[in-house]
Amino acid sequence: MATILVSSPLAGDAVQGLRQRGHEVVQGEPAEGLGHDGLIAELERHPGTEAMICLLTDRIDEQVLAAGRSLRAVANCAVGIDNLDLQALRARGVVATNTPGVLTDATADLAFALILDACRNVTLGDRVVRAGQWRGWAPTLLLGPRVSGSVLGIVGFGRIGQAVARRARGFGMRVLYSSPRRASPELERELGASFVSLDELIGSSEILTLHCPLTPATRGLLSRERMLSMRKGAVVVNTARGACVDEAALVELLRSGHLAAAGLDVYDREPHVSDALKSLPNVVLAPHLGSADRPTRERMAQMCIDSVLAVLEGRTPEHVVT
Ligand code: DGY
Repeated sequence: MATILVSSPLAGDAVQGLRQRGHEVVQGEPAEGLGHDGLIAELERHPGTEAMICLLTDRIDEQVLAAGRSLRAVANCAVGIDNLDLQALRARGVVATNTPGVLTDATADLAFALILDACRNVTLGDRVVRAGQWRGWAPTLLLGPRVSGSVLGIVGFGRIGQAVARRARGFGMRVLYSSPRRASPELERELGASFVSLDELIGSSEILTLHCPLTPATRGLLSRERMLSMRKGAVVVNTARGACVDEAALVELLRSGHLAAAGLDVYDREPHVSDALKSLPNVVLAPHLGSADRPTRERMAQMCIDSVLAVLEGRTPEHVVT
């Protein structure tokens, strides 16, 4: 029977499935996972560890793999895989997997929550009410950009980008998207989405939402220059990865009023969020909650368990990324 390292407690009780099959589960206690160094320490303590379930915040690099010489499987409890050194994994013959598909709707829901909140000041209004600063209905109180009928720009048109487009139809929005691959004419018609170049998308959108993976090509994609080319009063929403956006420039342009608002779920150096960002009233800050509805997180955990079991039992897991 195998030893399996799980970086943190997972949602639901899928981990029991490993124990029921007689495997030894070594589980990290911190809710946020053991992290790079914590994983190394556990792998050194349990040198025979054959499989690992890690979080998107656990950097899996050559150092971790060197500590886990017996590793055969790494299941990343996320769809994003920017925390995995795929080359190092491949070089060591370790099968790595992720959890696509199950978190599509949850992440699109959260993107829409941020679109609505950033535009319509829900969180800011909540703060005003709780602080006892609300003096009554006023024609000019907390006015924000309009959501219904506005131009929504979607960067990245994979499963999540498409799910956002589907929701945008209900708000009567004009949907533009940019993606390395153009969707089929049928899908474009179904979603009422028009394909444009990235620069056109950025220049035309009233609300711009990011749904691309973090890769060398998308790191810093929303640069200062690009944000300057956005329409005055536009809104930026990011549920993808923080490093896709130049955070300092975003702060500058939110402060100057060039951008009206932002809704962020992801940051460049999580869980660090800059004081500059925190000081702005026109930004909604969520703590990376994209996939955080209970059934989704339970399904992500189950997918990781299934992947690990597949490798241990000599089968090919469903979502291999190496
Ligand atoms: C992912 O799975 O990559 C998401 O960021 C989790 O919320």
